Amino acid sequence: MTDTKSLELPKNIQWQQWVERWDRMQERYLVQRDERIKLLVRLVCEAVSPVSRVLDLGCGTGSLMQPFLDAFPEAEIYGIDFDPVLLPLAQQRLRSYGTRSQLILADMRSEDWQAKLPKIFDAVISATALHWLTEVQ
Ligand SMILES: C[S@@+](CC[C@H](N)C(=O)[O-])C[C@H]1O[C@@H](n2cnc3c(N)ncnc32)[C@H](O)[C@@H]1O
Repeated sequence: MTDTKSLELPKNIQWQQWVERWDRMQERYLVQRDERIKLLVRLVCEAVSPVSRVLDLGCGTGSLMQPFLDAFPEAEIYGIDFDPVLLPLAQQRLRSYGTRSQLILADMRSEDWQAKLPKIFDAVISATALHWLTEVQ
């Protein structure tokens, strides 16, 4: 499920190519990105049990959500992001997971961004996103 229904990608867009391109671009910024993502999955696996609900802050195209959906086949994985292009790409990428993948369009700088989310998560994850947020004065 997702609340990005109004944010459709342009027709005939090759979304797989854009998702791959995004991952290639991110790999240039983050050394050993794949290994780090695998490590994050392992850390959650070893530190939390059971894992029923996970939140990815600044999920982008869902690169982090997908390995969590695969690793925890009973879990719901939520992703939040404010980008109206990246989120529909995530929607395409993760659509085969059905309602286990939940995408939320919201700006984490807004006061009420958490209102769109369940109250409890077993783990909160993030990759290269939190540095965009400044401390509240
Ligand atoms: C460098 S990208 C990383 C995306 C994804 N985590 C990954 O590893 O591929 C940073 C992400 O944070 C999101 N982001 C930045 N500031 C945000 C905010 N205030 N609210 C929601 N999302 C935000 C951006 O839209 C972008 O998708």
